[in-house]
Amino acid sequence: MNNLEKVINDIENSISSNIPLIYIETEEHKRGMLIIKDIAEKLSINNLLSWSEFTGIIDINKEEEVSKETNFKKMIEFVSKEKRKSLLIIKNLHNFMKDDENVSALLGMIDDITQKDLPIIIITLSTIMKIPQDIAQYVNYFELPYPTREEITVMLDKTLQDNNMDLDKVTKSFFIESLNGLSEDQVLLMIYSAIGKAFYENRFIDNNDVEAIIKQKRQIINKSGVIEAIDNDSFNFDDIGGLDNLKAWMENRKKVFSNMSKAKEWGVIPPRGLFLFGMPGVGKSLTSKVIASYYNLPLLKLDMALIFGAKEPEAAARLALRLTTAVAPCILWIDEVEKAFAGTEAGTVGNDTAMRVFGQILTWMEENKAPVLTVASANDISNIRGELIRRFDEMFFVDFPSKTSEVKSIFEVHLRRKLGEKRKWYVDDLDYNAIHKRMRQIVKRYGGEEEAGYAGSDIEKIVKEVLNSAYTSGIEKIKTRHFIQKITEVRPQRGDVIAKMKSEALKMDAILA
Ligand SMILES: Nc1ncnc2c1ncn2[C@@H]1O[C@H](COP(=O)(O)OP(=O)(O)O)[C@@H](O)[C@H]1O
Ligand SMILES: [Mg+2]
Repeated sequence: MNNLEKVINDIENSISSNIPLIYIETEEHKRGMLIIKDIAEKLSINNLLSWSEFTGIIDINKEEEVSKETNFKKMIEFVSKEKRKSLLIIKNLHNFMKDDENVSALLGMIDDITQKDLPIIIITLSTIMKIPQDIAQYVNYFELPYPTREEITVMLDKTLQDNNMDLDKVTKSFFIESLNGLSEDQVLLMIYSAIGKAFYENRFIDNNDVEAIIKQKRQIINKSGVIEAIDNDSFNFDDIGGLDNLKAWMENRKKVFSNMSKAKEWGVIPPRGLFLFGMPGVGKSLTSKVIASYYNLPLLKLDMALIFGAKEPEAAARLALRLTTAVAPCILWIDEVEKAFAGTEAGTVGNDTAMRVFGQILTWMEENKAPVLTVASANDISNIRGELIRRFDEMFFVDFPSKTSEVKSIFEVHLRRKLGEKRKWYVDDLDYNAIHKRMRQIVKRYGGEEEAGYAGSDIEKIVKEVLNSAYTSGIEKIKTRHFIQKITEVRPQRGDVIAKMKSEALKMDAILA
């Protein structure tokens, strides 16, 4: 049984066992309605009443208006006279629960159902799960999952057949993969648009059409306003300099992440959460992006600012997590987690909403069965409670590069990124011992403390400025001394925050990258 079949089955069981109120959270009202119709038919319930404030009460099977009543309370009174076994479908129930009179009317009906055998089951299709405390105890709650790969395959096959078209196996599986994580309407729209385009052009659906779909899909996900699908092709594994432990971790798990079903057969459970913390510019965001491209998985970015900017942060977070589950296997990236906790103090109750939303994400991380690796990063953990971070299976403290080999490797990444093949023509073999020595001297001078240092982003800046100056002043081959000179001009990062974070990291047993 797939996810959707299971949900349908559970809804059916709830109706059979006379649960008075069934709450289905979905943005897809049409699809929800069709599902309810199917269940009703199976259970031989013929009276299906749907109500909204705009349409009044409608008999769905007869497709006719039963009452013009647009007032919630009066509608409840009206339907409460019903003698036949009926389903009452209310759209967006949460909109009417701000009014105490409506709440009591609904409670009254629930009472009649449970105590007086009123033969009605109330079902709501709502975009948000929100219900008053008094009513919550009578509710069975469901989330309508997005179409599964199997459902998408059926939709695609049918449309192809109807249009007398065929699709080679590889393109087809790629196509289906790219439609994953969209609502049924959106899937159909994409299929029609690809077929329409192919029909017009050459009667074939090819990789170009599928690429176009992936682009459109990215836009659709981005339009959700709660999560962002990131194009992660621009960075790869070799773009990370230093961070050997972290890279070894990534390499180690590549086999697991690139074939999750196989790993599962062997009883290998992929890690669900990775937490990276350390000073700004050390490569946390970079690493998060590289993880996605290295494992060849889609990268979804959960922006805490967007979530907390939403009218209902918890609902926004839930929508984001639902989308993520639908897109899985994928990487969920929560960058700069500390922003959610800004202005709250560790050890205190803090910002309730931030705690609740973050708790929601952690619970989802533990409970959701879809293969998702959540990668969170923070520049500052002083306002985040340690126990939240410890719920991630893996934690890395990302330090400034401290060994000469690490410094060298970051310099070389940026020389290669900027100059490519021409690196060896324009730049001498550099003396990294001398370069690193100068960096340490400057750190001492500015930072004063042991823990201060240059981040990867500072090294990137040094490389950029050396190349700029060399070009402007017409130097043909850049030498070690040019770098040593520039280092003097770029200020390293201060060390007090990092010293604190380092001691936290040791306490938490976070592997030092
Ligand atoms: N370890 C590193 N290797 C190579 N480049 C780095 C490294 N760390 C930082 N950089 C450079 O600095 C930029 C900013 O780093 P970023 O990953 O955004 O830092 P953080 O997220 O830790 O604040 C990166 O895009 C990259 O160009
Ligand atoms: Mg960052």
